[in-house]
Amino acid sequence: MDWLRLATMGPTWEECKKIALIPFKNDDELIGEILKWQDCYNHTRKLTEDYSSKEVSAYIFYFFSTHLGRLKTCLARLPLEIQEDLFKTEFVDVGAGPATYTLAWYANIISRNPTQQLQKSYLIEQSMNMRKAADLVLDYYLRDLDCRYYNNIMSLPEMGGTSTYFFGHSLNEMNVEIVISEILQKNPTYLFFLEPGTKQSFAKMLSMRTLLLASNQYQVIYPCARSEICPLERQKENWCHQYVDLRFDPAIEGMCQKMKRDRKRSPLIFHLYKKVSENSKIQSQHEGIHFKNAEDQKGKIVFSLCKNKNGKNVLEEKMILKRHLSKAQEKQMAKILAGDIFDTRLLPDLSPSELELERGPVKK
Ligand SMILES: C[S@@+](CC[C@H](N)C(=O)[O-])C[C@H]1O[C@@H](n2cnc3c(N)ncnc32)[C@H](O)[C@@H]1O
Repeated sequence: MDWLRLATMGPTWEECKKIALIPFKNDDELIGEILKWQDCYNHTRKLTEDYSSKEVSAYIFYFFSTHLGRLKTCLARLPLEIQEDLFKTEFVDVGAGPATYTLAWYANIISRNPTQQLQKSYLIEQSMNMRKAADLVLDYYLRDLDCRYYNNIMSLPEMGGTSTYFFGHSLNEMNVEIVISEILQKNPTYLFFLEPGTKQSFAKMLSMRTLLLASNQYQVIYPCARSEICPLERQKENWCHQYVDLRFDPAIEGMCQKMKRDRKRSPLIFHLYKKVSENSKIQSQHEGIHFKNAEDQKGKIVFSLCKNKNGKNVLEEKMILKRHLSKAQEKQMAKILAGDIFDTRLLPDLSPSELELERGPVKK
């Protein structure tokens, strides 16, 4: 198996065919099924009894195949020591679906270090058809992985060492108050959320963040500069999300083009929290994050930042006048995406006063 290809681009079309529960007669039938369900998956899916075999199979070709590569880009935005620490934990895939992020997790581990010993894995999933697809996925890619299914967080066994609870497009289907109460009883080391990049999903993520910080048991590792009040809590028009640039198998990309859906630049909401304990005091975090993509405006490039100022998280807009930049620098800056860590080293070697006209805080 080419683990790096899998971690970067997700499965091939041929692999999806092997994992899908049922075949589709043709592309039109498959695309029709995806379009029928797409809005529900991304926004507010009604929890029906179970997904049908047809829905799960459509999920494999579209969501499973295009979600998988997101994890690698998200991990790359974390400090290296956190990435290494994460990979030593036992992995709990909460709302695992067809084991999308279980596979992504181990593909990232194996592609970096093929000899690393794989920790145990736990899949929380109530849908029997999703479990059937997960069985096919795990049997095809990760036959030797030690993993078990559970119906909910409370039925998980005691874990001896450190653990990561991973929510991949699943918190948006769950009740935040119930999830937080279960988390605080189980005390996992890390909480990893990779949720749809929608305004509704941000609102839910923000409630989760507020409750986690209020418990004084967790700190934010990403995306916030500090585990302090989010400046967007009192704003309606701005919301914080990230973008990742992805590549897919050509046949998967062809299907997305046919549907007129661009999955290559994907919005998402990625948050990582770590338990505060005696041994892991509050970490000093980064200086700030781009919470919108850089805007290439006439004569200037505009950045929207959420920055650490005197220990607080504050919003700030910065403009860099293009006339101060070389063409190469201009191109590099225009590529900055929401979710990229603010890096002063990226700014060219000119004094800040020459370069930046600070506009001050973003208007409320
Ligand atoms: C949109 S799918 C995401 C699947 C996978 N994590 C991914 O990103 O591709 C959400 C999954 O969460 C499961 N789910 C939702 N609420 C759940 C709950 N309370 N307990 C267990 N699983 C749940 C659903 O059955 C579904 O398979």
